[in-house]
Amino acid sequence: MSLDKFDVEKIRKDFLYLDGEKVGKDVIYLDTTATSQKPIQILDRVVKYYNYENANPHRGAHYLGWKATEEYESSRDRIQKFLGAKRREEVVFTKNATESMNILAYSYAMEKLEKGDEILITILEHHANIVPWQRVAEKTGAKLVYAYLNDDYSLDYDDLYSKINENTKIVSVTGTSNVTSEIIDIKTVVEKAHEVGAKAFIDAAQLAPHMKIDVSELDCDAYSFSGHKMLAPLGIGILYAKYELLDEMVPFNLGGDMIEYVYEDHSTFAKPPIKFEAGTQNVGGVIGLSAAIDYLEDIGMEEIFNYEHELTKYAYELIKDIENLKIFFPTDRPTGSSLSFTFTDIHPHDVATILDSKGVAVRSGHHCAMPLHTYLDINATARASFGIYNTKEEAEIFARELKNVRKVMGL
Ligand code: ALA
Repeated sequence: MSLDKFDVEKIRKDFLYLDGEKVGKDVIYLDTTATSQKPIQILDRVVKYYNYENANPHRGAHYLGWKATEEYESSRDRIQKFLGAKRREEVVFTKNATESMNILAYSYAMEKLEKGDEILITILEHHANIVPWQRVAEKTGAKLVYAYLNDDYSLDYDDLYSKINENTKIVSVTGTSNVTSEIIDIKTVVEKAHEVGAKAFIDAAQLAPHMKIDVSELDCDAYSFSGHKMLAPLGIGILYAKYELLDEMVPFNLGGDMIEYVYEDHSTFAKPPIKFEAGTQNVGGVIGLSAAIDYLEDIGMEEIFNYEHELTKYAYELIKDIENLKIFFPTDRPTGSSLSFTFTDIHPHDVATILDSKGVAVRSGHHCAMPLHTYLDINATARASFGIYNTKEEAEIFARELKNVRKVMGL
């Protein structure tokens, strides 16, 4: 697909952050990997819920109570369809991908793993797919094992697969790195994990917003993502897991709605997914995520992926020869929409600050992937990430201003 074929101007009309007057500044937003901007249709849908449909779902036997329940549960059906899950009960509403990973760690791994067992992850993971496993390892005596990279920053699949053995009980990998942008061959990872009877968990925080995955076809045991990186409001996430797995897991949060009976001294629990949805939920967020999926699928997930991918490659070509710039982007592998880079002689925070002064918003830091940065022997990178609302012209301005950073620094 050529970049010019995607009707980005039509899409940009839906995003009010592009109104520089109202925002207070014209912004070229290149930080979608951290969180996406939100189109007006989705925000309107959330406001409609709060104005006309608001009540506590599963609780009130009154009109608005039924209405809120209907919207909450029909959103679950929508997300089930998006994921290709076999059962609606396999879709659990959480706060974000991080909470989804914590549920897997606390409700499954903490209960099942023991000394001698291994949890295999990659050095590409962000903290949500590292820190919970560190805690599981600490508490159960299981070992946390990492797979590392090739010299071009691509995942070393030989290393990964050689570390899957009969002690491996969990293989938990990202679908797409939020730093190198590499899209992981999760199909093969799931197959290899299953060959030894291990569970295969996918951290799809960076994958789900850009690519449609059929979880039943993939056959992964669990798949986690956040709504806020895919045009939905903050504070809503999804844990997909196979029903049998959810059924054998203990609940993570305990309290209202997730119970069957509560006695003075003990309780019995509801069936999944409600077993994992204690307390009043983020109904507006759930409805917003469902609307976001409608919005994305109306454009077409494949069109979105192709556009963002080509735009990122275009930006890569524009910056790749800048003096002293090191880009952590494995060009021979499938990649998504983030470009992480650092100058050998300028700190990434300086780069981000100078770009910001020109209206270009990039992230700088470790991007919640500290072990990866340590492994790469750097403290931080700057990262430009692209979304459906970014244009070729914005990529060109970014490249021009990045070149200019050297001049501003007097180099
Ligand atoms: N993990 C998110 C990022 O990559 C916050 O920016």
